Amino acid sequence: MTAVAAEREVLLDVAGLSVHYRGEAGAGVVRAVDDASLQVREFETVGLVGESGSGKTTIGRAVLGLAPVAGGEISFAGEQLTRASARKRRLLCADLQVIFQDPYSSLNPARKIGQTLAEPFRAKHRRSPAEGVEHKVGRALEKVGLDPEVADRYPYQFSGGQRQRIAIARALVTDPRLIICDEPVSSLDLSVQAQVLNLLRTLQTELGLSYLFVSHDLAVVRHVSHRIVILYRGRVMEEGPADAVYAAPAHPYTRILLAAAPIPDPAEQRRRRADAAATRNERMHKAVTAVGAGCPFAARCAHATAVCEAEQPDMETLANGVRVACHHWRELRSVEHGGRR
Ligand SMILES: Nc1ncnc2c1ncn2[C@@H]1O[C@H](COP(=O)(O)OP(=O)(O)O)[C@@H](O)[C@H]1O
Ligand SMILES: [Mg+2]
Repeated sequence: MTAVAAEREVLLDVAGLSVHYRGEAGAGVVRAVDDASLQVREFETVGLVGESGSGKTTIGRAVLGLAPVAGGEISFAGEQLTRASARKRRLLCADLQVIFQDPYSSLNPARKIGQTLAEPFRAKHRRSPAEGVEHKVGRALEKVGLDPEVADRYPYQFSGGQRQRIAIARALVTDPRLIICDEPVSSLDLSVQAQVLNLLRTLQTELGLSYLFVSHDLAVVRHVSHRIVILYRGRVMEEGPADAVYAAPAHPYTRILLAAAPIPDPAEQRRRRADAAATRNERMHKAVTAVGAGCPFAARCAHATAVCEAEQPDMETLANGVRVACHHWRELRSVEHGGRR
C-alpha cells in the first residue's frame, strides 16, 4: 500500500526497546526484544514480520504493559507508557486495544457476547447507564457486520471468522486509536482471512484507525501494510515503506522471507530463491550460536563475513526510505543490479 504522509502524528513510538526473560536453567538471559525501534503514525498500518520466536508478540505485550521492559521507552499519543502510573495507563489503554490470533481462547466461553463486549466499555465509562452500554455494544457489532442480536449468544455458537469479528467488535467499543492485531487471521481459512483483512481495512478508513499488524506471514502483511518492520531474534533487520521493501529488499533475511512469496518478475524470483538456497546450505556448516556481539542473522546468512560475527551493524537509511541493519547491503545491491543502484 502507498505510504502514509510523513507529517501525520506519531501515535505509537517504541524506541530502543529491550525485553529480557530468564531462560531455562543455565541458559542465561533470553533477549526476546533487543534494542528495537518502530513507529506507528495516525491512520497507518505497520506490519511487524518475523518467524516464530522473533519477539513480535513480546513487543505488543510490552506496549500493553505486560512484558518486563529492560530498556528503552514506549510512548503513545505523546505520553510515556513505560513509566506511567496505573491510572494513566488505564486512561490511555482505552485508546489502545488488541486482537489475538485465537478468538476462541480470547473470548470467555461462559459469558454472552454482550457481556464480554460491555467490559472494556464499562472500564472506560464507569457511570454509563445500561442502555448506553447496550447501544454501544450493538453499534460495535454492526460495524463488524454482525446483527446486534448476537449479543445474547455464546462464543461456541459462532464460526472462527465470526468469533474474530466479535473480537474486533470488542476492540472497537472503546473507540480506540490504535489496535495491535497479533496474527489476527493466522488461525482462519484462506477465504475467511481475506474477509477479515478487508473488514480491518474498511474499519481503518471509516474510523481513522492505526494498526500494528503482527504476522509471521509476509503475504498476509503485504496487502494491509503501509510500512513493514522485519524482526529477527528481537532485532529490527529492515524497516520501510511496504512497496519499497517488497520491490527491493535490502537485507538478506528479508529476501529469504520474500523468496517464498510469488512475484511477477522471474529474474528477481530466481535471485531470491538462490539466496534462500545458499543460506540453507551455509547453515549446514555454521553453528547457530547464541546471540553474540555481531549480527544476530550472521550464523544463517550466506553473505556473512568476519565483521558480521564481530560487530552489530548500524541502521542505515537508503535513498528509497528503507532502513537496513546489514554490513553488506551496499555490495549485495551493486552485485545484483549490475553496479546500478
Ligand atoms: N513469558 C516468557 N518467559 C520466557 N521467555 C519468553 C516469554 N515470552 C516469550 N519468551 C521468549 O521470547 C522470544 C520471543 O517470543 P515471542 O514474542 O512470543 O515471539 P513471536 O511472537 O515472534 O513468535 C522467544 O524466544 C520466547 O521463547
Ligand atoms: Mg507471537
